[in-house]
Amino acid sequence: MIRVSANDYTRRGARRASTLRSKAADMIVWRAQQFIISMTVTEPNESDRSARSSSLDISDQEMRDLSAQFVTLAQTYFAGVAQMPVFTQKSGDEIKARFDAPPPIDGEPLEQLLTECQAMIDGSRHNGHPRFFGYVASPSTPAGAFADLLASAVNPSVTSWRSAPAATQIEKTVVRWLGSMTGYDDDAHGTLTSGGSMANLTALLIAQRVKSGANVSQQGLWNAGAPMTVYASDQIHLSIPKAADILGLGKQQVRLVPSDDRFRLDVSELVKAIEKDRQDGLRPFCVIASAGTAATGAIDPLREIASIARYYDLWFHIDGAYGAPAAMVSDQRENFSGLELADSLSLDPHKWLYTPVDCGCLLLHDPAAARKAFVTEADYIKVHEEGETESFAFWDHGIELSRRFRALKVWLTIKYYGARRIAAAIRDDIAMAQYLAERVEAAPEFELLAPVELSICCFRYVPVRYRSRADDATDTEQQATINAELNQLNERIMHAVQRGGNAYLSNAMLHGKFGLRACIINFRTSRKDIDITLEVVQEAAREIDRKDDSR
Ligand SMILES: Cc1ncc(COP(=O)(O)O)c(C=O)c1O
Repeated sequence: MIRVSANDYTRRGARRASTLRSKAADMIVWRAQQFIISMTVTEPNESDRSARSSSLDISDQEMRDLSAQFVTLAQTYFAGVAQMPVFTQKSGDEIKARFDAPPPIDGEPLEQLLTECQAMIDGSRHNGHPRFFGYVASPSTPAGAFADLLASAVNPSVTSWRSAPAATQIEKTVVRWLGSMTGYDDDAHGTLTSGGSMANLTALLIAQRVKSGANVSQQGLWNAGAPMTVYASDQIHLSIPKAADILGLGKQQVRLVPSDDRFRLDVSELVKAIEKDRQDGLRPFCVIASAGTAATGAIDPLREIASIARYYDLWFHIDGAYGAPAAMVSDQRENFSGLELADSLSLDPHKWLYTPVDCGCLLLHDPAAARKAFVTEADYIKVHEEGETESFAFWDHGIELSRRFRALKVWLTIKYYGARRIAAAIRDDIAMAQYLAERVEAAPEFELLAPVELSICCFRYVPVRYRSRADDATDTEQQATINAELNQLNERIMHAVQRGGNAYLSNAMLHGKFGLRACIINFRTSRKDIDITLEVVQEAAREIDRKDDSR
């Protein structure tokens, strides 16, 4: 354990000053000495930053050096990310050895910090690489990255208008923009969150409080009557059962309704499940549709689900964390018909609006619903403003109190590029996924596993020798054996591709088949990158064959 006393810091400050060798540093030391001399005759005032030897302020020259070097590092990163391996070529042990050090007692020189940051870059997976297609992760943009820098510099905690007047207004504006850009509501309310999981949790909490008919906030679920049930397709994101767990509803109360052959929620199964629970004395309170599932990008039949929700008086939430931004693309609008009917909608700017992590969003038509769930009284947060705008507090609308200024990166990204250019990037991502599907369908050794609904393409590698076996397989047992072998092979391919550094795919399990999954929310991806990725998969498969043959 390292213990450091306050005196150590003071001594350290002096030692640090004496080790600085530049002329500018000598000048700072000289100025500091002059200042100390002047302190003997004058009282320190607010602007005398060096009145405290422990001050963490730095000189103007140090500030300029720090800014210039870090901006250069970021510029170089943006310019060179396409040439890097998609995934670090360092092992876990090498990365541990590089970074697992005790905390430094004394500050390190700038050059050393830059070397450390370069090592961090070299030890990373690069979501901005044009052949990164894993999970649901997009590149960031310079506009978003610099916005985050500025947000951290100003560092407002966006709890309320009182704490962050402009930031609060910008967040409200961004929320309204996201509502109108996606066709949800031109006058949407809501909050920015850390991501889709937090937006979904917040939505489920609001839904439960609005529909429970009991004062759950005060008395807990124990006094809220019969168990309450939630409905979603078997393709729903894991954050929904997790939210039900966190809220004490229980994962089992999330009814996973079967999906159809396009991986969309089957509405007749939904009605059956609701009816059964009602007959059993349970209390259905919420149905959740996906506007872009994480596995295949399927969009549930939103309009039909909305009318079922209305009929049974259920809260209707849509998880559009991945897919909802695609509603900005004019030829996609029709697929999102019914989006506007949801009581709440999650969508993540840090996915398909290309802003840096973290930024999710929960949109609502009615802000009173959120207030019902979250309004809190406490003396130390009491707002003494009287105007409606100036007494606004985010803590009445969500879970967090201290909150990052997430809105700035969304605001600046949209202002810098404009909605039209962002929609065009989304449209092209969709076109890339369709191109990948065409290439897959045209190649005898690949099989497309799901229709491309948005920008996700799932496929598997099927060696030609398996094709004839699959054609000859007459019963389900034989097919299951073939699938099990292909699942194993494709899992090995995925791992080899991921660690090879030339492309990055993740996976989806689709009707028992292990699929290689490409989620293209990457404005750098070109058709050439798609072609290269398929070659990389083929080469990985050949390499596995060679290894197996040589055993
Ligand atoms: C459909 C969907 N919902 C929710 C989430 C969770 O989002 P986050 O990772 O931002 O918490 C994801 C993440 O990929 C998702 O794809």
